[in-house]
Amino acid sequence: MEHISLKYDEFFLSIAEPIIEHEKYQQMKQIPHHNGTVFDHCLGVAYYAYKIAYKLNLDTVSIIRGALLHDFYLYKFKKREKKNLLAESIRHSHHHPKVALKNAKTHFEINELEEDIIKNHMFPVGLPKSREAWITTFADKTLALFEYSTRFFFYMRVKSIRFAYITNILG
Ligand SMILES: [Fe+2]
Ligand SMILES: [Fe+2]
Repeated sequence: MEHISLKYDEFFLSIAEPIIEHEKYQQMKQIPHHNGTVFDHCLGVAYYAYKIAYKLNLDTVSIIRGALLHDFYLYKFKKREKKNLLAESIRHSHHHPKVALKNAKTHFEINELEEDIIKNHMFPVGLPKSREAWITTFADKTLALFEYSTRFFFYMRVKSIRFAYITNILG
């Protein structure tokens, strides 16, 4: 928890801790996602969404809990053999919020707002009913974009270093 407590404020951690310290939730540290793990991604989304909700005087407790659990599906997305990647991605967009909600209900007490956040975070696949769920959807998409672009720039940097190395060897 030490490096985590440097990144997030006290209120956020007091609400998040019972969830993120749960042994099932800890499994998300092993599941790769975008440029890191599902664990890092969910914490980032929850903190970003909480900061917006705080400014708008919304339900910060439910948004932290719901956003932490929005991707609590506990598996690594994998394209099935001989299936089209786009079709598989759409299928995953439909499927994983349902699995996340089922897991959340199995391991935690979930209120209506938290259910809305988890179930509908993949807009336009789901349709958020509350402002908290809309904010989480927004935070999720914004962060995913940032995470993908970080990964892309890292990939390009590695490629250019490799290219420079090879051209150097060839003289
Ligand atoms: Fe998701
Ligand atoms: Fe997400």
